[in-house]
Amino acid sequence: MKLSFYTDDVTKLSCGVLGLLVFEDQVGEGAIFKAVDQRLDGLLARLVAEEQFKGKKGQTLSLHTHARVAPQRLLLVGGGARKDLQPADLRGFVARVVKSGAAAHSADVAVVLPYLDGAGGTTTAERAAQFMSEGAVLGGYRFDRYLTGDKKKPFSVEEVKLVATSDNVDAGRLDALKRGVQRGEQVASGVALARDLINEPAGDLTPTKMADVAQRAAKQHGLEIKVLGPKECQKLGMGMFLAVSHGSEEEPRFIHLTYRPKGKTVAKKKIALIGKGVTFDSGGLSLKPSAAMEDMKIDMSGAAAVISAIGVLADMGVPYEVHAIAACTENMPSGKSYKLGDVLRSMSGKTVEINNTDAEGRLTLGDAITYAIQEIKPDEIFDFATLTGACMVALGPYHAGVMGNDLSLVERWLAAARLSGEEMWHLPLPERLKEQLKSEIADMRNTGDRYGGALTAGLFLKEFVGDTPWVHVDIAGPAAADKELGHIAKGGTGFGVATIVEYLAGRE
Ligand code: BES
Ligand code: MN
Ligand code: ZN
Repeated sequence: MKLSFYTDDVTKLSCGVLGLLVFEDQVGEGAIFKAVDQRLDGLLARLVAEEQFKGKKGQTLSLHTHARVAPQRLLLVGGGARKDLQPADLRGFVARVVKSGAAAHSADVAVVLPYLDGAGGTTTAERAAQFMSEGAVLGGYRFDRYLTGDKKKPFSVEEVKLVATSDNVDAGRLDALKRGVQRGEQVASGVALARDLINEPAGDLTPTKMADVAQRAAKQHGLEIKVLGPKECQKLGMGMFLAVSHGSEEEPRFIHLTYRPKGKTVAKKKIALIGKGVTFDSGGLSLKPSAAMEDMKIDMSGAAAVISAIGVLADMGVPYEVHAIAACTENMPSGKSYKLGDVLRSMSGKTVEINNTDAEGRLTLGDAITYAIQEIKPDEIFDFATLTGACMVALGPYHAGVMGNDLSLVERWLAAARLSGEEMWHLPLPERLKEQLKSEIADMRNTGDRYGGALTAGLFLKEFVGDTPWVHVDIAGPAAADKELGHIAKGGTGFGVATIVEYLAGRE
């Protein structure tokens, strides 16, 4: 998707669709609205009244201009109350315009940067340009690799023109807007890569292929890479990660990407980003029923997020040393599977009795955390994992659950999430629930009881982090969407990438 700027009179801007975000307090106002309306002899204002367009969130109004102005169509999108404006509204606005452009077979669309005075949150013009660019790229995102013939329709929209005229933006802000657009493109490319990986069927995206993807990312973004096979993992004593992999015909791959700031920049701190990389979760011998297994190609969404995000961070040249780690494996039932009642020896030395082979993510992550601590000694650890259905029971399908051992780090992470617009919610790690993980014959067992399943999974991970400040993000819900919404397409969402970038490349 090509993004460009347009700073002249919109009535002369040729495009398939011109999109305007209209706040409730602004319906029928604004220089751009008035200029267009005048050329249409007041038709736009009449239509707004007749159709009772009030600028409410989700409301739209479209009309064909019949060559009275250069844009072929207008699309008004309700922005709701100005003070409630969220990043998702700006992304969704542009995504909507892009989609209506595609429906009209247009090659280009234009969107007007809204006048932001009094807008909600910390939405500056630069941020607005970023979010709108993300909406432009991601609104045009499709996963069509496997479509053929008529089903594989080319996407007509190739260019999105961002309208920043003196009517809505002061000229001095143009540089900031351009920075915002560039950043939006970078974030969106990371999100789109993560979506592609998540959407790829597990039969094609095996752990070995994940390692190939990581190799490509390393080359593209100038990262160091280490890929460990089963023998090397064995040497390091990763008994939990390897046990999960045993049931599969596919070999596991432990992926470690490193970004170091270039030149004279001394890294301010070391960050480890760990992603759950179960390329298919059948449940193993604790086999999932078919319906629950159907979507389990998404169980590597955490790995997709960290591998994608580190490329974006490298392109931006952030001043931190960043490590992306993904222990990739399938979880399959077979004669070689790890068994219920087995006692595994983790890389940390702790032993774990297995009472459910479907609680495999925490086993892979536990060894990945130990690897990070021993090999990297990071200042902060973040893990991203489609870890528990219980997290979705607790928070619904859209919010990630955030847990950690350092309240101030959790707060800083949540602050970044508020800025990026990814929905996350803090959950507790109550020590009392640790009794659910007690084992008679090992240091602990891998699964607790029914209640508090997201928390006992978090408590299990906490056993491996020691004193390192750590944040655990359970993305079981938001990793994939069951329907399209705004800039989010059905399927893998790329959740996590935007907040990782916001956290490590924050501006304020
Ligand atoms: N990958 C699943 C969690 C999951 C469920 C992710 C639904 C996305 C959507 C995880 O490995 C799992 O199976 N968790 C079990 C844990 C249980 C056995 C303690 C679960 O949530 O049922
Ligand atoms: Mn599982
Ligand atoms: Zn899983």
